[in-house]
Amino acid sequence: MKNIIKYILPVAAAIAVSSCNDDPKSPGYEYMPDMYNAVGYEANSANPIFKDSITDQQPVAGTIARGNDIYASMDRMPYPYENSPEGYEAAGLNLHNPLERTEANMTEGKRLYENYCTHCHGPKGMGDGLVVTHNGPKPPAYSSDALKDLPEGKAFHTTQFGKNMMGSHASQLTASQRWKIIMYIQTLQKPGGQTAAADSAKTEAKKG
Ligand code: HEC
Repeated sequence: MKNIIKYILPVAAAIAVSSCNDDPKSPGYEYMPDMYNAVGYEANSANPIFKDSITDQQPVAGTIARGNDIYASMDRMPYPYENSPEGYEAAGLNLHNPLERTEANMTEGKRLYENYCTHCHGPKGMGDGLVVTHNGPKPPAYSSDALKDLPEGKAFHTTQFGKNMMGSHASQLTASQRWKIIMYIQTLQKPGGQTAAADSAKTEAKKG
């Protein structure tokens, strides 16, 4: 035991001392340095390969990253219609919901509608949200003559730029989120079809 103290202790002390040095930026002796030092160039590090010596390169001008996520790539696309009456009309004619009408999209659309739109448009889209009952701007009901045949492109255009007293929702909701909401709103524009189906299903269930 005495020998261990006599020999091992000085060796350990020597290692401890020699792993320090005067350079405050040096990490000293690194055990298995591959664990700390990546083989690839690290973000924000200098880079000898590129002309400007910067690792974090900008995307190539005029390109948009797509990736495998269809929502992410959709959300990065610039909106092609102008904020003008002509842009509104053009969107109404040519802009269509790129999302599939699935139950998941519809459920998410309803959830987002309830979070972002109900306070003005009301839970059933009748234009009777809390904001309206507190003297806020009253939107027409989605099922009113004014809106029941509103094309989805115009609805999307309105969420992009806003319309009169309704502000733009482009900064708080991505394009794909807004398309999901519009999918849901369409069931409020034509509540006849949607509610009748749901109701008759209920009656069927009661009967059975
Ligand atoms: C601050 C209240 C308010 C909020 C919040 C709001 N809206 Fe509106 N919305 C209005 C008003 C007011 C109008 C009527 C605008 C007009 O035609 O003058 C309107 C109109 C619309 C229209 C008809 C647009 C058209 O082209 O005529 C759609 C579609 C619509 N809103 C969707 C939404 C959606 C989707 C949301 C949530 C993401 C939302 N709104 C949130 C107040 C609101």
